[in-house]
Amino acid sequence: MTPLVELQITDIAFGGSGVARLDGKAVFVPFTIDGERVSAKVVRDKKQCAEAELVEVLEPSQDRTEPQCPYFGVCGGCVYQHISYEHQLELKSRQVADVLRRLGKLPDLPMRPIVRSPDSYGYRNRITVHAQNGVIGFYRRDSHTLIDITHCPISCREVNEKLAEVRSRRVRDGHYSLRAHDGARVFEQTNDAVADALRELVASFFPGRGALLIDAFCGAGFFTKRLAGNFDRVVGIEWDRFAVDAARRNAAANHTYIHGNVDVELAALLQNASTTDVAVLVDPPAVGLSTATRDTLLAFAPATVVYVSCNPATLARDLGQLRNGYQIVSVTPLDMFPQTSEIEVAVHLQHNQATARAG
Ligand SMILES: C[S@@+](CC[C@H](N)C(=O)[O-])C[C@H]1O[C@@H](n2cnc3c(N)ncnc32)[C@H](O)[C@@H]1O
Repeated sequence: MTPLVELQITDIAFGGSGVARLDGKAVFVPFTIDGERVSAKVVRDKKQCAEAELVEVLEPSQDRTEPQCPYFGVCGGCVYQHISYEHQLELKSRQVADVLRRLGKLPDLPMRPIVRSPDSYGYRNRITVHAQNGVIGFYRRDSHTLIDITHCPISCREVNEKLAEVRSRRVRDGHYSLRAHDGARVFEQTNDAVADALRELVASFFPGRGALLIDAFCGAGFFTKRLAGNFDRVVGIEWDRFAVDAARRNAAANHTYIHGNVDVELAALLQNASTTDVAVLVDPPAVGLSTATRDTLLAFAPATVVYVSCNPATLARDLGQLRNGYQIVSVTPLDMFPQTSEIEVAVHLQHNQATARAG
């Protein structure tokens, strides 16, 4: 039988597990909080680190709180429901700074306060549930077996109504995307209130009027449409045909949308632009920017780059390279996904030559 160990949790790593030290080795313990003393069972012992399962909280943190979801701990979705919302915000802010310093080798970070979600539950405007042999729900943590879910407390009312509706039918095995908003089935930000705050934050990076904004990875034009008034011309690039069609609907005269790959189209656009008055907004998927796109930004040197990221690790890698031409003006974490380990970050960068010109 695996012996129990007593551990002092000193931090919470990106991903959500508490971190302790045992004989000099890092031990990761999910569902614990920094400052707690716990007893745990080591379930995986590797060369560099170990993983343990929480058995008992011996000295609880004052930030320990009651999870609102009966599936918490079993379901693979949320990792922070046992932590007060205020402390979740502190942790996420710290994790972003930590990951950028460690992986991006970026020591002096102009961090701004994290943008909180007005609702820490009931905010998700879409979920994907899976159906198999009459079970409808989410996958278990660390496994591919399904748990039957009747209600998801982090999702909004409309999504839960759609879940109830799917459950009331005999649906075929498969994946079901449940959305609060009707419309094209294209990428959509997950938390309406924080998405609005993100869009306003990005708009605040462009107080004057610019010549050209390139919105790479533009989706259905979420940022483009808001920013069009700040620029003479805005061009979106997106490879999802349905998103481009949606973006082109109601587009003003100064918007253009290119259906294509950012890796190819961004270089082509920058080649023909005077880069001293060009801003590029990148909002890539979790994999971050390709080497080709990073090289394009450094080679053509648009004056301003705004990087919106849903993955601090790939953001750190990309900023680590972009700092060879760019200065980081600000880093703002946003809590788009309360109760989960996911973090959104907006970074404002200015090319060194543009900074020198402004000075
Ligand atoms: C994180 S979403 C952002 C969408 C949009 N900015 C928004 O806020 O709604 C990333 C988008 O990039 C698109 N995408 C991913 N890789 C791409 C590529 N190499 N070229 C063009 N579009 C890409 C995806 O289809 C998706 O719509």
